[in-house]
Amino acid sequence: GKVAVVMGGTSAEREVSLMSGQGVLEALRSRGVDAHAFDPRDKPLAALREEGFQRAFLILHGPMGEDGTIQGALAFLGIPYTGCGVMGSAIGMDKLRCKLIWRALGLPIPEFELLDEHSDFEAVAHKLGLPLFVKPNIEGSSVGVTKVKTAGELKAAYLEARKYDKVVLAETFIGGGEYSAPIMGDAVRGYTVLPAIKIEPATEFYDYQAKYFRDDTVYRCPSGLPPEQEAAIAKLVEKAFWAIGGQSWARVDFLMDEEGNPYLLEVNTAPGMTSHSLFPMGARAAGMSYEDVVLKILDTTLE
Ligand code: DAL
Ligand code: MG
Repeated sequence: GKVAVVMGGTSAEREVSLMSGQGVLEALRSRGVDAHAFDPRDKPLAALREEGFQRAFLILHGPMGEDGTIQGALAFLGIPYTGCGVMGSAIGMDKLRCKLIWRALGLPIPEFELLDEHSDFEAVAHKLGLPLFVKPNIEGSSVGVTKVKTAGELKAAYLEARKYDKVVLAETFIGGGEYSAPIMGDAVRGYTVLPAIKIEPATEFYDYQAKYFRDDTVYRCPSGLPPEQEAAIAKLVEKAFWAIGGQSWARVDFLMDEEGNPYLLEVNTAPGMTSHSLFPMGARAAGMSYEDVVLKILDTTLE
C-alpha cells in the first residue's frame, strides 16, 4: 500500500526533518515501496486518508511531531505509524518528565535543576559545578542549548533556552565522553540495542552545526568500549526505553564519567536519519544498510 513519509512540520528542527525525510523517502523507493513525502505544515493530516495512504513513516522531529500530538491524530484516523505511541512520544520529548521517571526507577542521570527568572544562578552553578549545560525542556538537535563555563554566563544561557520553552533545565556536565545507542523493538517482542556511537565533536560541544553541517565531528562506531561495558549499556538503554513505554525505534543519548559509569541524557523517539545522523551509523555497525534499517522500521507499523 501507499506509504506517507511524514516530514518537515513546524518545529525548530524542520530543516533536519526535511533532510531525514529525504533520506528515508529515497531508501523506501529504492526498495520498491510506494512512498511519498507528506508535510503536515502544508496540508491537514486528514488528507492522508483522502489521498489513500495506508501507513505513515513519521520522521518529524521536535514538538508537534515527536511529542505525541501527531501520533494521537494518526491513531484517530486509523493510520498505523512508525515510532512510539502517544505516551512514549510525549514523555520522550519532555526531558524533565523523562528524567523524573528514570530517577524513580534508579537509573543514572546527571544532577539537574529547573531554572526560572527568580533562580539564584550563583547557587545553581555552585551546586551543579562548572561547566554545566542549560537546555530548553522541550527541544531537539541542541537548539537553545548552551555550555556554561562561568556562573556569570548562566543567566544569559537561561534567557536563550527560555526562547524555546518556558521550562528550562541546568544539568551537570559529565566529562568522560558522549555516546548514543539506537534501539528497536518493544516490550512484547523484546528489544535490540544496536552498537553505540561515540561522538567526539571538534567544537566545544555537539551542537547543531556539529550535528548536521561540520565535517570535523569524529564518530566512533564501534565505540571502543569494552564488550562488558557495551553489554551493560545495552541493558540500561533497554530499561530507559521500556520506562517511557517505548516501541518501534529510538535513540538513547548518554554520557560517561571518567570511571566508565553511564548517565542517561535523553531518548529521541524520532531520531535523525540525515547523512550525518547516528542511528544509521549504529545500524551499519550491526550489518544493516541505511535502506535495510528503514525497511525494518517501516515493518514495525505491521506489528
Ligand atoms: N533530534 C534529532 C533529530 C536527533 O535526536 O537525532
Ligand atoms: Mg533530542
